[in-house]
Amino acid sequence: RQRYTGLIDRYRDRLPIHDDTRIISLGEGNTPLIRLHHIPKMLGKEVDIYVKYEGLNPTGSFKDRGMTMAVTKAVEEGSRAIICASTGNTSAAAAAYAARAGITAFVLIPEGKIAQGKLAQAMMHGSIVLQVQGNFDAGMKLVKEVAEEAPVTIVNSINPYRLQGQKTAAFEIVEELGRAPDYHCLPVGNAGNITAHWIGYCEYSRRDDEIVTHACAFCEGHCRFGGGITGNRPKMVGYQASGSAPFLRGAMVDNPETVATAIRIGHPQSWGQAWRVQEESNGWFDECSDAEILAAQKLLAEKEGIFCEPASATSVSGALRDIERGRIPEGSTVVCTLTGHGLKDPDTAIKQSTRPVLTIPAELDAVKRAILGNL
Ligand code: F0G
Repeated sequence: RQRYTGLIDRYRDRLPIHDDTRIISLGEGNTPLIRLHHIPKMLGKEVDIYVKYEGLNPTGSFKDRGMTMAVTKAVEEGSRAIICASTGNTSAAAAAYAARAGITAFVLIPEGKIAQGKLAQAMMHGSIVLQVQGNFDAGMKLVKEVAEEAPVTIVNSINPYRLQGQKTAAFEIVEELGRAPDYHCLPVGNAGNITAHWIGYCEYSRRDDEIVTHACAFCEGHCRFGGGITGNRPKMVGYQASGSAPFLRGAMVDNPETVATAIRIGHPQSWGQAWRVQEESNGWFDECSDAEILAAQKLLAEKEGIFCEPASATSVSGALRDIERGRIPEGSTVVCTLTGHGLKDPDTAIKQSTRPVLTIPAELDAVKRAILGNL
């Protein structure tokens, strides 16, 4: 059996890569698609729910899929530095892949509003962390402006190579299920990931033997259509946190707020693309309250053994509600992306835990009492 060497190697015939391109990889991709057992039973509904556990990527989020491509291409094009604005996960991935490539990463993060694990990653990988006195959207604006004047490559999802890398998650799902799911649910911030998945599903939905390369509405000419293995495409469903839900409001939100700091974004960068995805796939957007998001995070952790960060749980929170009310009908196959690992944000997890940590003396009796009292 061949060693797994990352998603660019695995899908090199579908990515804008040359034979001699030096690939910057940490073995990202190839994440587990886990079928939920207990939650569908609790709902009492006949649905197949799978979660794509993207938290198991090297830096703990789906951003690694895009970052391996963006940094590989930046290095190929001679760039010595990359830059991004981030709510935390992009900066963690940028920092790690820049370290791997031997280049510099500058990351702009909103002051006080990123989870501890993500900050630790950016600092540990040696990136230059600029804490902005403003939110993600302010940072993003600055990044676009400074890239006009300084020799840095933007690795936010407005970099088209990011979406090319991220589309591979859809390939993996189709290969594992043998078809596309009926519904694919994602948390939406900038809406890059929902767009990337749609690109991937579209590529794999064409059965043609001949692969042709041409521009679609999303890919700036980087996609390779045809040679796919399935005939169907899912309805793409995007869920946002209520306090940061521009797609629900139909307009940009100036002061986004949510406990799910990863998706605390009011001015999505892939605004037009995401509306198009919704229209082409017959999907929809909806919102979840912070309480609903945290409840879903806890449910996954307690009932399925899967720990994701709050933003990730938004996909499951929304999907469960749509299954309950029948908008997602029984008999459906549903995939929810769990975008980031729960360990990214230990503070929020500990804060919302209801089970107390019991302090006991270092004595056999005390342990026995605790066991008998909790069985
Ligand atoms: N889930 C997590 C855990 C994220 O970190 C993000 C985005 C999203 C969902 C939303 O994905 O933006 O493609 O719609 N995080 C970015 C960051 C903004 O800077 O890490 P999207």
